[in-house]
Amino acid sequence: MSVQIRTAVFPVAGRGTRFLPATKSSPKEMLPIVDKPLIQYAVEEAISAGATRLVFVTGSSKRAIEDHFDTDSELENALESAGKQDLLKVVRDIVPASVSCIYIRQGQPLGLGHAVLCARPAVGNEPFFVHLADDLIHAEEPVLMQMRRQYDAHGMSVLGVETIPVEHSASYGIVAVETDQAGHHIIRQIVEKPKPADAPSNLAVVGRYLLTPAIFDRLERTGRGAGGEIQLTDAIADLLHDEAVAAYPFSGTRYDCGSKLGYLKATVELGLLHAELGADFAAYLKTLKA
Ligand code: G1P
Repeated sequence: MSVQIRTAVFPVAGRGTRFLPATKSSPKEMLPIVDKPLIQYAVEEAISAGATRLVFVTGSSKRAIEDHFDTDSELENALESAGKQDLLKVVRDIVPASVSCIYIRQGQPLGLGHAVLCARPAVGNEPFFVHLADDLIHAEEPVLMQMRRQYDAHGMSVLGVETIPVEHSASYGIVAVETDQAGHHIIRQIVEKPKPADAPSNLAVVGRYLLTPAIFDRLERTGRGAGGEIQLTDAIADLLHDEAVAAYPFSGTRYDCGSKLGYLKATVELGLLHAELGADFAAYLKTLKA
């Protein structure tokens, strides 16, 4: 039976200091890759996996995100009277009318786990997605959809994972897994940002979660962990005592758009794939000296 996951949570309260000065007054999630802001890629992925309620956990200087997903009648009227129907469609298609956006303020920067807990009143007692917009994943089938199919198959929480060089383990939640007879990777251990010597494997969680609502009670009792923050990883470690959680090595290419190099790679590669610009951009890149 296919379960609909109605709600996607987007923790977007982080200040994005790695991109200063670009992020001084503008959210890092509004940085564009070619012609769409990162948060729009995130929202499109969630909607194509069936989400109809988008919960943004925001903080200070994040108003541009709300404006982006709101109807802008003035702009629409102007495009209409100028006969720019194609652009009008682009603007109107940002979120379909059947999708609702909910904004919750994370009053204090207490970490990812705390951000997810702030979304509890909007999520209720049902499974939900968590999507970190920094991790842009280009995939034939949207990653959240791939994960929803996993959930349909086994009914467990699912974390999107990828193999990383172990020397980068201190940037990620790292899991150790066992593979069951059905080929599902069941998580035995999960640790937030371990040093390479302490990492239980080189399998990292990369910004995609499908969680059962049982996580909320765990988050309520999770104390501060790595970096002095309330970590989602620690609440998942607690959840493992009572529920099985699966790791899912999704198919797709991930760009770490929280880093400048990852952001540039995404810009170049998605530029090359762009329907209108790709060919001209490829020709331009060939003219550059190696
Ligand atoms: C967060 C999570 C971490 C995860 C990472 C993926 O860390 O805490 O477990 O591996 O996202 O990008 P952050 O990058 O916010 O420090």
